[in-house]
Amino acid sequence: MMISVGVVGATCLVGATMISMLQERSFPVDHFQAFASGESRGKTVKFRNQNYPVEIITPETICKGIILFGATSAEVAEKWIPPCIESGAAIIDSSSAFRMNPDVLLAVPEVNGHLITGTENLIANPNCSTIQLVAALAPLAAVRNIRWVSVATYQAVSGAGSPSLNELSRQQDEMAIEPGTPRLHENIITSIGLPDTNGYCAEELKLIHETCKIMNLNFPVFASTARVPVRTGHTEAVVVKFSSPFPADEAVSVLMDAPGIKVSQSGCSPIDVENTDAVVVDRVRNYPDDPTILQFWVLADNLRKGAALNAVQIAEVFLERKGAGANI
Ligand SMILES: NC(=O)c1ccc[n+]([C@@H]2O[C@H](COP(=O)([O-])OP(=O)(O)OC[C@H]3O[C@@H](n4cnc5c(N)ncnc54)[C@H](OP(=O)(O)O)[C@@H]3O)[C@@H](O)[C@H]2O)c1
Repeated sequence: MMISVGVVGATCLVGATMISMLQERSFPVDHFQAFASGESRGKTVKFRNQNYPVEIITPETICKGIILFGATSAEVAEKWIPPCIESGAAIIDSSSAFRMNPDVLLAVPEVNGHLITGTENLIANPNCSTIQLVAALAPLAAVRNIRWVSVATYQAVSGAGSPSLNELSRQQDEMAIEPGTPRLHENIITSIGLPDTNGYCAEELKLIHETCKIMNLNFPVFASTARVPVRTGHTEAVVVKFSSPFPADEAVSVLMDAPGIKVSQSGCSPIDVENTDAVVVDRVRNYPDDPTILQFWVLADNLRKGAALNAVQIAEVFLERKGAGANI
């Protein structure tokens, strides 16, 4: 069995982290390809000590039966994904392009990985803030019904891609800001993406809709999303109302047994989760006057579990289900 793997958007933060994850997790790869835009023509990308030329993604340039990891914007994904599916590729896409398509599985392996069959031609990788939220909520929802969730995010600048990260560094060094450029350094930006007619910004809507789709439940998610001047690591303040009392010590033991979760009760910061794989649930506590309400923090590296690691974990389950000996 020959396994061909390609990363589309191999020159960006998520794409580069995907390459690291494929290496770190010894993902089986017999043939590797790297793709990016025409701007990257002539560049190379290193995978397992070998340099690969960056190619343009077309149905003609991809290997037959390749597994493609998408790390491009939604607009770009909408163009390259349909023809590559037609050519027989299996795609795990990290953009928002197909996440809410009812025919496309939106997967976090620890939460709904049982739905991966190994026959999909496209699986969507959720938004970074959604992945860590559902990873923490799902084990709790398995033992108590959730009535509603309130979440406020403190999202790292790397979540907006390398141009924003470079701009943060530039503002830190020079303190000069071009007119029309958002101030990232020493600031909080309380709206991520364009607002809808109700005033909900795009990131809040992703968090609301993706959470319900992955958990296959329909409870209100009150989301407020903000960009903070942290390079990597998203932090979320979460309040959950359950249908019956849920003592904090019981919730802690449930979370301690949950896959991919690390429980902390001592205060965790985004810097503590940078370059790590677990979703950290920190300071679980009951609201003083209502034992049906739990409050906690959820933190994760947005480039790893929030994007690249989750995509590679999806591919691991996909390959396993597709079965040994399959012709990929
Ligand atoms: N950053 C995060 O924490 C995070 C988490 C979850 C999901 N995501 C999603 O993952 C995707 C990538 O995120 P990012 O922030 O790392 O991206 P980014 O900095 O915006 O980079 C986009 C990548 O797409 C490539 N590209 C542009 N046009 C292309 C084309 N026509 N064909 C092939 N490749 C093309 C670019 O290549 P060039 O270098 O040649 O321009 C670059 O490698 C986005 O959809 C984002 O929403 C990001």
